[in-house]
This record gives sequence, C-alpha cells and structure tokens, in this order.
Amino acid sequence: NRVLSVASECAPLVKTGGLADVVGALPAALEPLGWGSRVLLPAYPGLLERVGASRRVWSDPDLFGGPASVRSGRLGDLDLLLLDAPHLFDRPGGPYSVDGHDHHDNHVRFAALSWVGARIAIEGTSDRWRPDVVHAHDWQAGLVPSYLKYAGSSVPTVLTIHNIAFQGVFGPDQLDRLRLPAWDFHPDALEYHGLVSALKAGMVHSTRLSTVSPSYAQELGRPEFGFGLEGVVAARRDRGELLGIINGIDTGVWDPERDPHIAPYSAADPSGKARNRRALFEEFSLAESSGPLAVVVTRLTHQKGVDLLLEALPRFVEAGGAVAVLGSGDPGYEYGLGELAARYPESVGVRIGYDEPLSHRMYAGGDLVLVPSRFEPCGLTQLYGLRYGAVPVVAATGGLRDTVTDARPENLADGTATGFTFGDAALGGTIDAGGLGFALGRALDLFRDEAAWRRLRAQAMRASVDWGTSAARYADLFAELAR
Ligand code: ADP
Ligand code: GLC
Repeated sequence: NRVLSVASECAPLVKTGGLADVVGALPAALEPLGWGSRVLLPAYPGLLERVGASRRVWSDPDLFGGPASVRSGRLGDLDLLLLDAPHLFDRPGGPYSVDGHDHHDNHVRFAALSWVGARIAIEGTSDRWRPDVVHAHDWQAGLVPSYLKYAGSSVPTVLTIHNIAFQGVFGPDQLDRLRLPAWDFHPDALEYHGLVSALKAGMVHSTRLSTVSPSYAQELGRPEFGFGLEGVVAARRDRGELLGIINGIDTGVWDPERDPHIAPYSAADPSGKARNRRALFEEFSLAESSGPLAVVVTRLTHQKGVDLLLEALPRFVEAGGAVAVLGSGDPGYEYGLGELAARYPESVGVRIGYDEPLSHRMYAGGDLVLVPSRFEPCGLTQLYGLRYGAVPVVAATGGLRDTVTDARPENLADGTATGFTFGDAALGGTIDAGGLGFALGRALDLFRDEAAWRRLRAQAMRASVDWGTSAARYADLFAELAR
C-alpha cells in the first residue's frame, strides 16, 4: 500500500516547527505496517543537491507561470519527491518568508504544490508509482482534495491540521490563475468571508479530517480555538469524519542513550544527565545552583505564551530556579527575554536563534521544560522533555493535556505522574501567569525532595512517546479509505 504525503516541511531537510518532525518521522513508522510513503516537498534552494535527486519522474511545461518537474531521491528512510519549480521555490529566505516578510505569492507556491500532489495521485509518476491515499498537511497542501475533486478523481485524502491559525487565504481574483472553478466559490466550499481559504477548502473536500491530538480535535470545534473554522470542524466531527491522532517522536533521533550531541544516560542510569546539566549551566554562563534548571525551546509567539513566562519567571528565579531559553520570533518577546537575562544574569540565559544541536543539549541538561501555550495542537517539546527527563510544566490544553499527567498527590502515589499542568478549563482554570507561577512553585517544592524527583523523572522518561500506536491509527485509517 502506498501513501503520498504532501507538505511544506520535512525534517531533517527543512524545518520551522513540529510539522517537519511529523512529516519526517511518519514514513518510517508506517513502513512496518505495510504502508510505503513518498513525501512531496518543494525543492527549496539546495535540497536537490542534498538529496542527490536527479531522476525526473513528472513534469509540466507550465506550472502557474513556469516549467516544473518532480525529482525523486532518498535521504535515510525518506523517499522524497521534490517539486523543482524555480520560479516558485528557488529564492532566498525560508520556506514562507524572507527577512521577516511573507513571500508575496505563497498562495501560488503552495497551490502549485497541491496541484502536483493531485496530478501524481491521478496519473502516477513515470517510475510507475501511484498512491492509494494522499495525506495532506496544513493549508499548504489544503488544495489537494479540491483539485482531486475537480478532476473527478476518487483517490481518498486525509487532511491533517497541525495549526488552524494559518489558513492560506487569498482573493477570489486568483481563482482562475490557480485553476480553481468559480462555480465552487461559495461558503460550503472554497469561500471564506469573501476570500478563498486553502485550509477550508481541504477541510471541506478531504475524505477525512484529522488533527494531532484528541483534545485539540474537541477544542477545534469551539470558537475560542477554531479561528473562524469551528463550524466546518464541528460539521465533520458530527459526521464522524474528524480524528484526533496524537503525534509521536522519532525515538531513534531523540534517544538520550544514543544522542551524539550529549553525554548518554537512561531512566535506569541517569548519572549522565548531571553532566549535561552542568554543561548547560556553563554554556549559558549561569551560576550552577541546587534549584531546578528549566529550559524553553520555542518559536517566540503569542501561541506559545511567552508573555506568561516573562511574567512568571522572576518569582521562579528568585526562589532558586534557573532558566535557559532558545527561540526566535516576535521582536517584542526577544527584547523582553533579553531584559530578563540582563536583570538575572546568573540565572536566566537566552539564545535568540534556531539551533537544533543546542535544543538536544537543552532537553538533556534541563530539569524542567516549560510549555505554557495558549493553544497547542500537539506540541513536541514536552515529548522531547519527557524522553530526556526534563519534566514538562505545561498548560492543560490540546496535546499538552493529552501527553502530560499532573504530579498531584494521587498521581505521584500511583506512579502515573509525568509533569505539571496548569490552567485546566475543565477544573475552572485559565491559562495565565498566575497558573504558570503556581505550577512552577509546585515544581520547586518537589525538586527539593530528591527521591520523589528521581521517581517523577524516571516515570516521565518511561512515558510512551513513540509513533507506535499513532502510526497504527493512521495505517488503519488509510486502509479503511483505500478499500
Ligand atoms: P510548533 O510546531 O508549534 O512550533 P512543536 O512543539 O510541535 O511546536 O514543535 C517545535 C519543534 O521545533 C521542536 O522540534 C522544537 O525542538 C523545535 N524548535 C523550536 N524552536 C527551536 C529553536 N529555536 N531551535 C531549535 N529547535 C527549535
Ligand atoms: C503545529 C502545532 C504543534 C504540533 C505540530 C506538529 O506546528 O503548533 O502543536 O506539535 O504542528 O503536529
């Protein structure tokens, strides 16, 4: 059985966030379940060379304004199809923006990606590969189901929503150019308040809709979380066509016993963790202390609750905690973190930037990983924290709620606790700085009890975070649709 995965990012080739980790890890997890994958990805600058992708398996002399071809190549377990369309993808900057500004033609670039995904599903590639199912990710692949529908194809599709805040919206004057029919421009299909939304189109036209945790699947149907698309979500949920499948992590890459970036350790023998901790204090030029060292690895955005950190951290630090932050994003948050570090030079360290190896050293050296997100479809950093024994402190929302079990007395007693949660709406809580501060206070207290902490950390490290169960759910879903 064959699945074509269509996405704008794929680790380790191109990554701005968790989407890349998921797209890059699923193929290897699906393989033993009988599903071979190919990942269709734009050939951003340098990728063709990195993958050694020279074999042309599909081509079109005019893909929305220029010639395009698809080249196949391999990288480790990954079987890649790179969309080589220089007029769309061969340019400086990141996948979506350059110098902080979105590429002006993102809607064309990713409509093109979606168009090619649909064509490959219909025609197959010249090396005679045709998928049984297409797995489209986020708005950038959102038009795949629509293009298939307009072509009269019955190849089934799954659209996975990783982040509903990004919707791929553009003006209806673009319909013609993007080979989308004006007759389907209405609120039950392509239209979203007078504009076209690639994400909404996919949500309406995909055979099934999924998102990356059960809690987020529930939340998405509510106005506070749905970013205007809650009605579409709710309709599909009521028809039983929405699934919440929790993300796993690639436990081959993220393995404290074998990670080349760190001193190795395990739940059974955590002694190496102390070395990583010491090294991290040093790397961030912090004074080594007996309190917990918290790490934060994140995009610095409103979603991630960076302002809650800015508000709650002074107290944590004054009570003996230390913090190391790695991230980039909103200039205001970058500035605020810089100020915090200047105020507490011995206990707060900040690195602005993106640094994959450093992120490994941080999960390995940290006692805590802080994830105070306002919403979080799944979240991967808490999973890396669990695996590396950096006990997560998380907002009780979305996938954070589904993957971390709070260290309240009964959970500590029966050995199910893996971290600290706050702001659980079901318990009347809200996600705010007070809640985060309270959770940090509980972490400080428990950290003083060495035996209790060791137990909690071992429990966290043993939590199941691999793809096993979730890959099986995708495989079952694909099999059901392909039948
Ligand atoms: P999101 O996709 O919303 O950003 P996730 O928690 O799902 O959130 O995934 C974030 C991924 O990006 C994780 O793999 C995390 O380690 C990584 N990451 C985020 N910021 C940085 C950074 N500044 N440097 C290195 N890795 C980062
Ligand atoms: C998105 C979400 C994040 C999720 C990731 C992978 O970026 O913000 O919560 O973990 O996608 O699914």
